Amino acid sequence: MSLLEVKDVNQFYGGSHILRNVSLTAELGQVTVVLGRNGVGKTTLLKSLMGLVPIKSGSIGFDGKAIDKATPYERARAGIGFVPQGREIFARLTVQENLQMGLAYKPGGTPIPAELFELFPVLKQMLGRRGGDLSGGQQQQLAIARALAAGPKLLILDEPTEGIQPNIIKDIGKVIRMLADRGNMAIVLVEQYYDFAEELADQYVVMERGEVIASGPGSEMQAKNIRQLVAI
Ligand SMILES: Nc1ncnc2c1ncn2[C@@H]1O[C@H](COP(=O)(O)OP(=O)(O)OP(=O)(O)O)[C@@H](O)[C@H]1O
Ligand SMILES: [Mg+2]
Repeated sequence: MSLLEVKDVNQFYGGSHILRNVSLTAELGQVTVVLGRNGVGKTTLLKSLMGLVPIKSGSIGFDGKAIDKATPYERARAGIGFVPQGREIFARLTVQENLQMGLAYKPGGTPIPAELFELFPVLKQMLGRRGGDLSGGQQQQLAIARALAAGPKLLILDEPTEGIQPNIIKDIGKVIRMLADRGNMAIVLVEQYYDFAEELADQYVVMERGEVIASGPGSEMQAKNIRQLVAI
């Protein structure tokens, strides 16, 4: 069984049918990349996984249990970490406080895992800085570290390369690969930066107008000319 099993999910914003029978899976040790042009429903899909928007039909299974009725808090506690599009770090809180927010459902006094500073050394030097004073790339690293703080089994990331300088994109790619290669985490990565996505993909899913129009192993993306499907 897959760690995450999404089956035939339909979602509406008012009268607009946004997600149409979307199915996908994510496995421990693998990166599942979700590709698609602007407005096709990628963020809506991730919000549905996190419980931030309700689904109309279909099912979401995580770690052997149905979670589609669970609150976002319950899903976080069950082991889903979310890095939202645009990062949404707390600008007026310090780096340390932002990381502590990632531990909100853990017992009080749970320390920030030292490992986060091995993954993102820059955060260690900036613990006392306000989130809003960090560069875009540093904020993205902070958002990922915050999502990792509680030790999720599934990490979902919404366009982590958006507006980030190339050297930090490289670092983020390395961290994502390393986390997956440990084998105890599944990663769902929404991306529009095709080369980054292809390099990381163990599995890929392409969406168009709320539907999955192609999917398969990452190793087949070139042969199937997936780049063409998502070219802007
Ligand atoms: N809160 C909302 N209320 C109504 N419609 C919405 C809402 N959020 C998104 N939509 C619409 O749902 C569709 C899918 O949006 P979504 O943000 O999921 O796309 P996306 O694939 O993440 O796009 P992008 O690549 O630009 O981030 C779009 O048509 C969008 O206008
Ligand atoms: Mg989006």
